[in-house]
Amino acid sequence: MAFVHVPAFSSRHHRACRYSVNIRSRPLAFSSVQDSTVQACVATTIEKEVEPTIPVSPASPVQLPVEHVEGLQSPGYIDDGYFGIPDSVQFWRSYVPAESSNLAEHIRQITSFVTNDPANAQYWFHTLTRFTVLSAARNGLRYLQTNEDTIVGRRHASTGAMITAQLKLLDQALHTLRQDYENVTRGTYKLPWDLTLQHSSQNVFSVLKLLGTFSRMSQRQADNMLQSEPDISVWLDGAFFPKYYKQTYHFQADGWMSSDSANIYDAQTELFFTGLQDAMERTAFCAMSPYIREAKPTRKLNIVEVAAGTGRFATFTRDNWPQADYVISDLSPFYLQKARENMNYWEKTQGKKYSNLGSVRYVHAPGEKLPLKSASADILYAVYVFHELPPEARRAVINEAARVLKPGGLFVLTDSVQRGDRVLEDFDLASFGDFNEPWYRTYIDENFGDVVCSSGNFEPYLKNQNLLTKTLSFKRTQA
Ligand SMILES: C[S@@+](CC[C@H](N)C(=O)[O-])C[C@H]1O[C@@H](n2cnc3c(N)ncnc32)[C@H](O)[C@@H]1O
Repeated sequence: MAFVHVPAFSSRHHRACRYSVNIRSRPLAFSSVQDSTVQACVATTIEKEVEPTIPVSPASPVQLPVEHVEGLQSPGYIDDGYFGIPDSVQFWRSYVPAESSNLAEHIRQITSFVTNDPANAQYWFHTLTRFTVLSAARNGLRYLQTNEDTIVGRRHASTGAMITAQLKLLDQALHTLRQDYENVTRGTYKLPWDLTLQHSSQNVFSVLKLLGTFSRMSQRQADNMLQSEPDISVWLDGAFFPKYYKQTYHFQADGWMSSDSANIYDAQTELFFTGLQDAMERTAFCAMSPYIREAKPTRKLNIVEVAAGTGRFATFTRDNWPQADYVISDLSPFYLQKARENMNYWEKTQGKKYSNLGSVRYVHAPGEKLPLKSASADILYAVYVFHELPPEARRAVINEAARVLKPGGLFVLTDSVQRGDRVLEDFDLASFGDFNEPWYRTYIDENFGDVVCSSGNFEPYLKNQNLLTKTLSFKRTQA
């Protein structure tokens, strides 16, 4: 295969740069000591007081296959013309997993983190244990699957190939966690609240029960995947649910429509992302945090989460901004119930720390039509749902966000990377669409800078990325 060298792509040369002026030309109003550190999370084109602390980068720019030059039209590159781009976005774009060459540097860096702040050692203990256990479990499952004709199937790999694969996974996990941890040390967001075994294990009985449900549901899911015509129906029907919603996703038995599905969702995605999902989702906070500091609100914030699922992420949001009032919404009553349980657990174990806790309202509604007043929310965010929606539903959610947000409010869209965000993944990215994700292929080529801003309701704010997740954020234009 022939290769060409593609130089760093400059947003200034891009046709879309008409939108770039917003973040680049206007000085942001940061004030506190921590604020300068937040800037590193904002945009490299803003004068840097703090050198952005980015994980070790590969030695040279990535060599791209010739046909990838067309990739410069991919959303990942086009984003450069719209958003404030921190160095971490450039880093992930050209990231090539290393087998072992970065290991010494990772160990040196993590040791220095722990020495500088021993109280935070639990972060490393907890996240690395989680990664080790879950990646071993995932590799073990793959090893057991010998039938190459299935979607999940892999031939038995040689031991050497498995070790190489594991070392690469470790390298990317360490980059992901270092980026997450550095955001904590900069004050962009807090350490996760659930870093002790007490939270993850709660009690032996409930873990055993979860494992039982998990294996039963996984078996049904695997059986379904192996059928030439998988059963994608769900048992709960009704005019309330849009047509695209009335089918399974990921071949998950019951789709979003059962409490069994809601109970295993977090365990399943943890396994899929080898324990890195939380760190990736926290890129949403890299938009919310500087926005809130910049806005310096003098009254309570109203924060709305669309498609909150089991509400796990909502507990982290509330842990960071406990005084805000929240609306947590989803289209699945089963997932919404789980979100309530998760939030109740957070309140019971963490909420007492705060003298002035805001409220939470659970709302069963589609993101396209929220039963909320116009111009009532300061922040509206959605995590991992846009790739599940057909293009017209994405636009309806964006329009609804424009209606519900106050002028100047923040819209945060966190989801899978798209083409051009992780160049080496580009050729394989679309294949996730085969995993019973009917709208994924249209999602990865959607230019959200244009889709969101072309109505004139939004202007672009920031882009953030960690591993396989990106966050695009937008400000509601003033009326
Ligand atoms: C992949 S899960 C993501 C859940 C959660 N945001 C997270 O990050 O864990 C997708 C969620 O979107 C919800 N959903 C899908 N379409 C929706 C829509 N049109 N309106 C509201 N929720 C929707 C599903 O019920 C499900 O809970």
